[in-house]
Amino acid sequence: MNILILGSGGREHALAWATLQNPKCDKLIVAPGNAGIAQIAECADIDILNGGVVAEFCLENSIDFVIVGPEAPLAAGVADRLREAGLLVFGPSKEAARLEASKSFTKEICDAAKAPTAAYARFTDAEAAKAYIREQGAPIVIKADGLAAGKGVIVAMTLEEALEGVDTVFSDFGDAGAEAVIEEFMDGEEASYFILVDGETVLPIGTAQDHKRVGDGDTGPNTGGMGAYSPAPVLSDAVAERALNEIVKPTMAEMVRRGTPFQGILFAGLMIKNGVPRLVEYNVRFGDPECQVLMMRLGGQAFDLIHACADGRLAEAQVNWADDHALTVVMAAEGYPGTPKKGTEIRGLAALPEDSKNMVFHAGTKAADGKILANGGRVLAVTARGDSLKDAQERAYAMVDAIDWPEGFYRRDIGWRAL
Ligand code: AMP
Ligand code: GLY
Repeated sequence: MNILILGSGGREHALAWATLQNPKCDKLIVAPGNAGIAQIAECADIDILNGGVVAEFCLENSIDFVIVGPEAPLAAGVADRLREAGLLVFGPSKEAARLEASKSFTKEICDAAKAPTAAYARFTDAEAAKAYIREQGAPIVIKADGLAAGKGVIVAMTLEEALEGVDTVFSDFGDAGAEAVIEEFMDGEEASYFILVDGETVLPIGTAQDHKRVGDGDTGPNTGGMGAYSPAPVLSDAVAERALNEIVKPTMAEMVRRGTPFQGILFAGLMIKNGVPRLVEYNVRFGDPECQVLMMRLGGQAFDLIHACADGRLAEAQVNWADDHALTVVMAAEGYPGTPKKGTEIRGLAALPEDSKNMVFHAGTKAADGKILANGGRVLAVTARGDSLKDAQERAYAMVDAIDWPEGFYRRDIGWRAL
């Protein structure tokens, strides 16, 4: 099979790495890719937000199957355009991608499906939102309605922060802030649950926990994720089953009922308190860096599962669970999550082991004159698999320590919650 993966992050490097382990893969192209992906697959620099451009590329290159990595092309309707062109695609339609692209839409679906989530109210007017916040008190959560690259959420611990948050959402986020969702603050422990869905059939493929804050001990500003591990102990079998039955299945059935079934990977962000899961948010793609630890654990079978999902054969698919653990440490460029320093050289990568238990997935890198240079905020996801989480952690940090990149930084405590 000739396969095209869309995206350029550590997530897509991990998807490419797992896909290449599967004998069904004859040819793999990643668009646009990055320096690490270019070491294992062909990369093509095309505009992945333009469905017409991607469809034409697929026809020219005899692509049989497209795996969409990030949310932006999904929200832009690229999967729909490719299906119209007769291609097999992994990833939801534009309409179903609203589960990530619109917070208020997801709330509506949860209401209709009676899925447990935070109580909320919607506002298009800042003054009305502030009046509501004064009534509710803090802590409280303010969210811009649209996609805001993970920056549209303000968890306000005081009334003052909350009122300021309203101004931020209405002034700073442009179209995304035209509507705000104000939510009850949920406390508990957060974890991520990954479920393949083809319409109404759901197949859980793993759990993970992310580290959103930039600094050790969960301090400093939020990021896209500084590290992750799988499985997440807080999502025990019992809690996961509850999340599946009370949240995932009813919401997916509601999408079917509306004539907009979801197909792809559903990433449920859950808040768990006293063994009871509630939905924080849905994403309609793999998490980054959560995908890296999931792919490390699943290996080549990940491709079979993704292919079965796109093909509507999920009911016959099975996951071979291994009793193992994976952990990834993100190395970021100085300045991240603000403006990262670009162009600094990363040394020592070639000497690292790369096998089914140790992988350095690239995110923001580029190759120049035989060197690997930093070219983004999150630059590497250093990933290891082990018999225990501790084992995976030790091996991931051993690789981190062998990487010579003075202008990079990372958290030293990935995995602390589970350990
Ligand atoms: P979201 O983009 O909706 O995932 O929100 C980003 C982060 O904000 C989540 O991962 C949570 O840590 C936090 N958050 C979002 N909504 C709530 C809520 N209702 N209660 C507490 N924390 C929340
Ligand atoms: N790591 C969080 C995300 O991908 O949304």
